[in-house]
Amino acid sequence: MENVLSGIKPTGQLTLGNYIGALKNFPKYQDTNKVFVFIADLHALTLPIEPEVLRQNTKDIVAFYLACGLDPNKSVIFLQSQVHEHSEINTILENYAYMGELNRMTQFKDKVSKMNEKKIGLGIFTYPVLMAGDIFLYDAKKVPVGEDQKQHVELARDIAIRFNHRYKQDVIVIPEPVISSNGARIMSLSDPTKKMSKSDPKGDIFLKDDLKSVRKKIMSAVTDTGCEVKYDKVNKPGISNLLTIYSALKEITIEEAENEFTGANYGTFKKAVADVVCEVLEKIQTRYNDIINSPYLDEVLEKGKKEASQIAQKTLKRIKNVVGLYEKQ
Ligand code: TYM
Repeated sequence: MENVLSGIKPTGQLTLGNYIGALKNFPKYQDTNKVFVFIADLHALTLPIEPEVLRQNTKDIVAFYLACGLDPNKSVIFLQSQVHEHSEINTILENYAYMGELNRMTQFKDKVSKMNEKKIGLGIFTYPVLMAGDIFLYDAKKVPVGEDQKQHVELARDIAIRFNHRYKQDVIVIPEPVISSNGARIMSLSDPTKKMSKSDPKGDIFLKDDLKSVRKKIMSAVTDTGCEVKYDKVNKPGISNLLTIYSALKEITIEEAENEFTGANYGTFKKAVADVVCEVLEKIQTRYNDIINSPYLDEVLEKGKKEASQIAQKTLKRIKNVVGLYEKQ
């Protein structure tokens, strides 16, 4: 049985992109695999964030995990910062990642290009190493993520291979990214050439948005010239993005979605997209509202922390032993 692990960083409100590209897929593994899903709160510190915002976002993600169908009796749900082995393995792994490869990470380059060079924290540079440690601690083989995280998981894979090679044994399980064929990169509704992201409120749909404004955002989403509902990423990025959203939420192929709208105009199509998005969000929001202020949330985290710690402790011990850190036998 292969272990599955993924996480979300509590840097902002969760978007429909986070849901379709990642969150929606996590519960699918619960009955067949050992699943670890966490909140990457240490990762959230790699860029400036207000303490209260971080705390609130963290609670929110736990509630959304549960609202989207993760079951704490089947999956281990926990906070990264509550399992100190994440920080410890990070210190070890930093010595097996190369500055050249970290420098080549697209997300790092994107983020720092907008920052004052003198004020770039070290954490944003070593970010993928912490991420590799997250994966290694739980012997995760499969890492379901959206397209933007693929490069980080591939780097984790390279580090794992390098580490095993150095010590001539299979110490670390070699992970692989699992990217869904449909919906791995949901684009902004106001600019379909840009990724939908937590930090871009204009073209985003947030899981917490009220449904009226969701409908409004979809009805006014940027579309393209022409009138055919056809998937064509280059010439029709807006319609292609809406087709992706529609088909991913309906669990059908793009082709099946196109067939449903043969002869339909953009208005009719957008209304159908708005209907399905609102239907999905309404269900999630109802469950979220039941959970967000209940003590259940902390119970889930307490249970997750215990379960995750037990496993992380064992893996870290194995790794410390292999690299030669002394312990009484
Ligand atoms: P984060 O918080 O940026 O995003 C969480 C997940 O959502 C996916 N995603 C998207 N998918 C489709 N379309 C979009 N527009 C979109 N935006 C985001 C991301 O690809 C991701 O899967 N570094 C990670 C968190 C992390 C992690 C890990 C993940 C830390 N350690 C170990 C996996 C394994 C992150 O910041 O994701």
